[in-house]
Amino acid sequence: MPPPALFQPLELRGVRPRNRVVVSPMCQYSAAEGMVNDWHLVHLGKFAQGGAGVVFVEATAVEARGRITHGDVGLWSDAQIPGLARIADFLRAQGAVPALQLAHAGRKASMARPWYGNGPLTSDDAARGDACWATVGPSSAPVAEGWQAPAPATDADLKIILDAFAAAARRAERAGFDIIELHAAHGYLLHSFLSPISNGRADRYGGSLENRMRFPLEVVHAVRAAWPAEKPLFTRCSSVDDVEGGWSIEDTVRLARELAKAGVDVVDCSSGGISGSATAATKTLLRRVPGFQLPFAERVRRETGLKTMAVGLILTGRQAEEALQAGRADLIAVGREALFDPNWPLHAALELGADPEFAAWPRQYGWWLTRREQSLHREGITRRAADYPAGSA
Ligand SMILES: Cc1cc2nc3c(=O)[nH]c(=O)nc-3n(C[C@H](O)[C@H](O)[C@H](O)COP(=O)(O)O)c2cc1C
Repeated sequence: MPPPALFQPLELRGVRPRNRVVVSPMCQYSAAEGMVNDWHLVHLGKFAQGGAGVVFVEATAVEARGRITHGDVGLWSDAQIPGLARIADFLRAQGAVPALQLAHAGRKASMARPWYGNGPLTSDDAARGDACWATVGPSSAPVAEGWQAPAPATDADLKIILDAFAAAARRAERAGFDIIELHAAHGYLLHSFLSPISNGRADRYGGSLENRMRFPLEVVHAVRAAWPAEKPLFTRCSSVDDVEGGWSIEDTVRLARELAKAGVDVVDCSSGGISGSATAATKTLLRRVPGFQLPFAERVRRETGLKTMAVGLILTGRQAEEALQAGRADLIAVGREALFDPNWPLHAALELGADPEFAAWPRQYGWWLTRREQSLHREGITRRAADYPAGSA
């Protein structure tokens, strides 16, 4: 029997993740001055120990004004390399491919950490030491009422930001990462250029779809040139804005064709975020049911031939396996489910019968678990606590 599709390696240029499970980038809002710390090492390290093929470091700001919050990770300075290198080394030592998402928050910068409101910074945040800062966007349109109006990016700003993306990609290489992803989703700077909702420019970066794609594609080209040819480049898109008159899946397919020409290897198909929260949104047109963004990954894959990564409420190994077998995506990203269960990939392997001997577990754990399994089996007891008859303990 061949292994389940979820546990087959994937060739991506010179990089070969051990399976198709990717831990999606997830901001921890816990860095100081863009520097990672032990929280990030342990948070990400758990996922590599848990068997993921690829583990992504959260949205990492390419310049300080491009942070979402004061707690974001950054890579705008060489001083930020050693902390990230320690993480990349550990992820690799645990068998995962170390990956990092490069981002610029644009007009969604200068926000409060989620647990302090997840909106524009207030005087309460300033009292905690989190003062607001000036943001930049395609035009002066704010995210929504009550948000700061960004300064429309001048040509000089665009050059600075483009160079910052390329410089951060070079730093990511020096830190030992093997995959980088450009964050062009969730209403942040690159997405805000793409979407007609946020891009009110009248120059060659606004108006037609071709013009709105221009700056994000310039960034893709600059990063591809700065990033080694043997290493894959992903791009995350908001496949649809999920608001009336917004960016559509047809636009994403057009963009994906240009991304392929620019040397992007995988399109990561997310959605939303142009005029508020992406993941945290609760009132959306698109119903948030398991696998709700899978149709986007499927369509981009089918219509462009590009590899895609599916993300969004993928909850079980079986669900992930079915998506891969049906050719809907090449990679499966898990976010909150990995927070809920950092060993999700190892549990999915058990669920799919791919690892009956606990061979994929770190040997510090697997050696014990296989013996425990044998003891339980001898007593006719199944593994899952929920399956134990009441009072049997
Ligand atoms: C705590 C948290 C932080 C997140 N930070 C990022 C981020 O840095 N970059 C990004 O593209 N998406 C971010 N997301 C979105 C996730 O990557 C993912 O797309 C989303 O959670 C949907 O997948 P899920 O249903 O498996 O959680 C974040 C989500 C969570 C829960």
